[in-house]
Amino acid sequence: MTNDLQPEGTGPRRADATPHAAALIEGLRDLGYSLETAISDIVDNSITAGASRVEIMTEVSSADPRIAILDNGLGMSEDELVAAMRPGSRNPLATRDEPDLGRFGLGLKSASFSQCRRLTVVTRKAGETSIAVWDLDDVADRNEWSVELPDDAPGVPEVDLLGTTGTLVLWEKLDRLAGNIADPPRRAEVINQRIAEAERHLRLVFHRFMEAGKPVEIVLNDRALRPLDPFARSNPATIADPVESLPLKQGSVEIQSYTLPHHKQMSNAAWDDLAGPEGHLKSQGFYLYRGKRLILHGTWFGLCRQSELTKLSRVRIDIPNSMDADWKVDVKKSSAQLPPLVRDRLQRVIERIQGGSKRTYRKRGQKLVDQERLPLWQRMQADGQIRYRPNIDHPAFVTFAEALPPDLRQGFFNCIALVGASLPVETLHADMAALPEQVAPDKVDDEVLAQAVQYTMSMLMEAGKDINEIRSLMKDVDPFRSAWAETQSIIEATLEARGQ
Ligand SMILES: Nc1ncnc2c1ncn2[C@@H]1O[C@H](COP(=O)(O)OP(=O)(O)OP(=O)(O)O)[C@@H](O)[C@H]1O
Ligand SMILES: [Mg+2]
Repeated sequence: MTNDLQPEGTGPRRADATPHAAALIEGLRDLGYSLETAISDIVDNSITAGASRVEIMTEVSSADPRIAILDNGLGMSEDELVAAMRPGSRNPLATRDEPDLGRFGLGLKSASFSQCRRLTVVTRKAGETSIAVWDLDDVADRNEWSVELPDDAPGVPEVDLLGTTGTLVLWEKLDRLAGNIADPPRRAEVINQRIAEAERHLRLVFHRFMEAGKPVEIVLNDRALRPLDPFARSNPATIADPVESLPLKQGSVEIQSYTLPHHKQMSNAAWDDLAGPEGHLKSQGFYLYRGKRLILHGTWFGLCRQSELTKLSRVRIDIPNSMDADWKVDVKKSSAQLPPLVRDRLQRVIERIQGGSKRTYRKRGQKLVDQERLPLWQRMQADGQIRYRPNIDHPAFVTFAEALPPDLRQGFFNCIALVGASLPVETLHADMAALPEQVAPDKVDDEVLAQAVQYTMSMLMEAGKDINEIRSLMKDVDPFRSAWAETQSIIEATLEARGQ
């Protein structure tokens, strides 16, 4: 079959290859959105339209559940609305205003279709209310790119909430969310659960808009969401490094490293909120913002591993929307790739962070092997292995062994060696990786502590140390460090008993 549309002699032959509406629009559903990335894409549009309030409302208990996203932004005229409903409404190569969070002219459609089969947009501008609907079943029947323009939207109560200007995006026929669940209460439960999971994502992705001077309020089912600052900047114990700027051809990249406070320096709730469901280990890394909107986080872009050493490090990277091509930002605004020039700079940032963490780590390591400090455990590093061994020269062991009849002494040291050799390294490692802040030295009872304090004090006194030195040495090692208040009273009582 020939499809000659071009008169001869004016160029190569051409054939009509207009996409089949029904097929292509179905294809738009599968760009890989999740519920939270889809809602975020709609919220992007509201923020770009200057909204100061975005309300996400779910009606899940009715026979036809729906999700509505309402804003009080600029709204659209009917012509603008029709343009907005067109897949590919803007050329991705066009320059956009700086605060524009869009790029591809696709998000409204692709995000909506990823979750629903019927998208209604009701918008108001200059006293005119316009409505447009894409219904995928309708497109499948007609197989043409024609958007429906109904005169009104009956049965959509959210329309009454539109102010003088603004836009309502309505998702119906939620086949992807819970379409296969026939039982209405169960379906409502599943959708509610998914919405609840999306909440944290919204608090994080838009936190800079929610906390800025002219904040955007994001409301989820009548509840205003609190911004979630991944750098905990309001906590005075957060360490912020100076801002670095990397000027490039398409704009400037801003980089700033933060070290989060230790979990003891904040409430458990704040610590868990910062960690999220993935935990702190997986939440360290770069936080990439495009136009102040978080695009991705919790990755070192393959430049280093997410390790326990750098667990509290989070690095803010800010890029303008003029750099989309360099960073290969995707339609969902949830992935990007590192341009080579930035890669080199970030490598140095990581080396600095690792250098800092390693130094503190080594310092701790030295403390452990420092003979002055009387460790009960010794850290030994040799032949590519790190071992922990009870320190049989510790006064608590030596003094006790000396009190034993000679034939029992070797047996005592054998028992101690057995404890050291059976240290459950793998379990410790797993716990340290998953719940490090919950791993703590075992508490010793008063009698054990008192005995250890007394032996240690005697030994140090015999070695000619004065009481202040003794206190300072003991304060740094367990079991005294973790029970310092009790240790101090035992020291005082011992001094008193000795008449000192
Ligand atoms: N809530 C809204 N208020 C006002 N205008 C809107 C709203 N939502 C969408 N628009 C208009 O519709 C257009 C198309 O939106 P869409 O999300 O499909 O693409 P985009 O935002 O331009 O780019 P991207 O695909 O990167 O999101 C927008 O450029 C904007 O002009
Ligand atoms: Mg958009």
